[in-house]
Amino acid sequence: MTAKTIGILTSGGDCAGLNAVIRAVVHRANHYGWRVLGIRDGTMGLLDRPLRYSELDLASVDGTMMRLGGTVLGTTNKGNPFAFPIPGRGVKNRAPEIIAAVRELGVNAVIGIGGDGSFAILRRLSQEGRIPLVGVPKTIDNDIGLTETSVGFDTAVSVATEALDRLQPTAASHARVMVLEVMGRDAGHIALHAGIAGGADVILLPEIPYTIDKVAAKLNQLKAQGRNSALVVVSEAVRTVEGRMVKVEYHGGARRFGGIGQYIADLIAEATGAETRVTVLGHVQRGSPPSAQDRLIGTAFGVHAVDLIAESKFDRMVAWQNRRVIDVPLADAIARYQAVDTNSGLVKTARALGICLGD
Ligand code: F6P
Repeated sequence: MTAKTIGILTSGGDCAGLNAVIRAVVHRANHYGWRVLGIRDGTMGLLDRPLRYSELDLASVDGTMMRLGGTVLGTTNKGNPFAFPIPGRGVKNRAPEIIAAVRELGVNAVIGIGGDGSFAILRRLSQEGRIPLVGVPKTIDNDIGLTETSVGFDTAVSVATEALDRLQPTAASHARVMVLEVMGRDAGHIALHAGIAGGADVILLPEIPYTIDKVAAKLNQLKAQGRNSALVVVSEAVRTVEGRMVKVEYHGGARRFGGIGQYIADLIAEATGAETRVTVLGHVQRGSPPSAQDRLIGTAFGVHAVDLIAESKFDRMVAWQNRRVIDVPLADAIARYQAVDTNSGLVKTARALGICLGD
């Protein structure tokens, strides 16, 4: 097989387990005798001069990478190259610069570790620049289609579960209703998984419309049974009773979900008279050391991604299905956005436990 140079980049929001993927890619590429160039900060590293990248060899990827959260390559969830913001002058298509940079580096194939938004951009770059591409799914939101899990999801669920473990004793000590707001963007996977694992009494998901009367009835029922406290998990994209999204605007104009936990806590206090407190878990869910599962899946994904290049199978995404790594068309994975299936086994499990889902 002819020697190759692979480019690897992480794109979109970071999460735990990305470094396990990078490490595995370097190991597997070394097996084939290929070079690996780590591109910095997603495609941003290919827009600057000098180009920002580093050669990754076995010496640069020892076992400590398995324990490291974040991504050693850096990432970005801004700066779509097809509509790159130019201060004061609107946007510009900078994709040709990226395609030229890939050529200049002599990269024969790119492994893009991203979510559906990043994949859509990378795929367009791949098609316009004839750059062979393989995708590795990562996102704490677990909303990428055709894969049971994405790198980073399991760790985020563990962090949110641990938060509930820590909230429960203080809730009981003060006889309070604790509201935990978790991430997940438009998908409620983190809330559902962590809520069940952490023994929540109420879980509100963007996929299931709620009424505050149902939530209050559940909390009143617990009180009548002698329970003085409760745990409520709210996914960040749950809407207000009027259907409004709750977001925070940061300096510079970026708008992100944030605040629905406080909104729900106030409604609960009003409807039940309970004392409430709110915890917004935020980026803590992204930044912790990876769980064993994210290390394992990330490693298996990295190996398979390189093997796909060896077989000249491109425009594919590695995926986890039925306890093993497979690969699927990247376009299908992007198209099959995966929110919580309201008839799924886990939703039924939650209901069977008497967890209130607000409906
Ligand atoms: O998509 C991952 C995610 O962590 C979402 O769960 C969250 O809504 C968003 O990214 C936060 O984005 P940022 O890092 O830009 O604040």
